[in-house]
Amino acid sequence: MMLDSAVYPGTFDPITRGHLNILRRTAALFPVVHVLVAVNPAKQGLFTPGERAAMVAEAVAECLDPDTAARVRVARHDGLLADWMEAQSVRVIVRGLRAVSDYEYELQMSLMNRQLHPGCETLFLVADPKWSFVSSALVREVAALGGDVSGHLPPCLVERVVARARG
Ligand code: COA
Repeated sequence: MMLDSAVYPGTFDPITRGHLNILRRTAALFPVVHVLVAVNPAKQGLFTPGERAAMVAEAVAECLDPDTAARVRVARHDGLLADWMEAQSVRVIVRGLRAVSDYEYELQMSLMNRQLHPGCETLFLVADPKWSFVSSALVREVAALGGDVSGHLPPCLVERVVARARG
């Protein structure tokens, strides 16, 4: 069976250049990629889900080439990822693995998603070493304390993240 799309879910608070690297590589494998701004109840957001989705769309338009950007769909979902996938007939979840420490959590999620939505598969892409230490929380913290985060964020988002993080 040919797979025509994949979903790249996350909280994206905010989307970073590391996420964009995974997204670009996913788009080289699938004709359509859905970036799904989802909810992780364990995390409090700096940006609202609506703001994050808008920021993802801006980053995609700015940082990906137009042909690739045209194949990326940005969506939001407040419920289970498995339910969204079933409703959209998407079978593949893409996740980036930055370090061994990511693995255990990712394994649990992958198995749970497969139980909730039999037939779904998780594809792991190894994060580029250039971005393997980056997380949204770390970018928010550095921005809040006056550090330079321009190397980690899409250019169109830098000022917004700095302004929000510094409160
Ligand atoms: N480059 C840079 N940063 C990366 C990265 C990469 N390649 N890959 C991961 N990260 C960072 C993220 O920035 C994030 O940092 P943060 O912890 O500071 O926010 C962290 O690694 C992992 O975040 P993310 O990819 O957003 O995962 P998450 O744990 O926030 O969210 C969801 C996981 C949203 C996919 C999951 O909670 C979900 O599916 N929610 C929907 C509800 C559901 O179905 N729950 C049951 C799941 S089985």
